[in-house]
Amino acid sequence: MTRAVVARGSELRVEDVVLPEPGPTEVRVRIRAAGVCHSDLSMVNGTLAPAYPLVLGHEAAGEVVSDGPLAGEHVVLNWSPPCRACWFCAHGEPWLCATTSGPSVPRGHTADGEPLHVTLGVGGLAEQVVVPAHAVIPVPRDVPFPVAALLGCAALTGVGAVRRTAGVAAGETVVVIGLGGVGLAVVVAARAAGASRVIAVDVSDAKRPLALAAGATDYLVSDDGLSRAVRGLTEGRGADHAFECVGRAVTMRAAWRATRRGGAVTVVGMGGRDDLLSLSALDIFHSARTLRASVYGSSDPDRDVPPLAAEIRDGTLDLSPLITDLIGLDDAPEAFARMMRGEGARSVVVL
Ligand code: APR
Ligand code: ZN
Repeated sequence: MTRAVVARGSELRVEDVVLPEPGPTEVRVRIRAAGVCHSDLSMVNGTLAPAYPLVLGHEAAGEVVSDGPLAGEHVVLNWSPPCRACWFCAHGEPWLCATTSGPSVPRGHTADGEPLHVTLGVGGLAEQVVVPAHAVIPVPRDVPFPVAALLGCAALTGVGAVRRTAGVAAGETVVVIGLGGVGLAVVVAARAAGASRVIAVDVSDAKRPLALAAGATDYLVSDDGLSRAVRGLTEGRGADHAFECVGRAVTMRAAWRATRRGGAVTVVGMGGRDDLLSLSALDIFHSARTLRASVYGSSDPDRDVPPLAAEIRDGTLDLSPLITDLIGLDDAPEAFARMMRGEGARSVVVL
């Protein structure tokens, strides 16, 4: 028996859940930290249509407690473990692996005999998980669990978007729209890449101190005058890069308009099916901008998490500004409410 945050539609409860015994290619992980990510909120607010009842959580780290070669290892959970056999994996894009599971996957969990699904194959807002052995990534024991958890989603996504999808170079100017865990990771990585200006943007002024602590050089509250304000900070041109870390067409359009001719928009936020983005055909040609989405930071977690963990341990990458609340499992439903209100950045459940 394990305790887990279960969604039945929009209603969230901490419930007793029975996990399956791990099979020969699976491991049982005692979760030590799990972040509350906007993608978990998307499971319960109608943006995605997963199957319920659903164990929430996919950004987690813990300790392998089943027997086998990984026993005792500290691990980060990977919500998109690649098959290493499909066309995308064979062509170096494992984050687009053709076998990637949908938002909700059955993994043999039950509550009172009723079958449950788990979020992105992980269901990490729980005391324990059972996952495929290739869905865990060992990390050094001296990386604290809360930050290790973020390496499984917000940090890998945000840092990967900067380094791998966009390739931000020293001296470039960067706009970041949406300052949750993902957007703040983009801010940290952009500064670490040597960006000369990192202009942080959010609907709420409450994110200003978090953005500045993460390394933003400027802070703007988003409104209709955003592109003019950005131009005012970039010699009239617009930024070299804009990162959309909200997941809405309106902020994708704002990101588009905030970049210079020839600039690059990187979409990191995951939005809804019916939220349409409209750009004029002339603007697409004349602005010569690039629009790219960054799935899982265009990263291969098996390859990219260990060096990130080393950067954190060595102090060269400081992701601590992302974590604003350390909470218990029973407080997770309230953390979803905080996220809906746009308060704080990451709430991380510690167990
Ligand atoms: N303009 C600017 N900022 C906005 C707007 C807007 N119109 N609407 C919301 N925001 C801000 C919120 O105030 C909040 O600070 O976007 C931020 C989103 O943060 P979180 O809800 O904490 O989301 P996060 O977990 O960081 O994920 C961001 O990336 O992985 C995807 O599914 C995820 O789409 C989500 C996005
Ligand atoms: Zn996530």
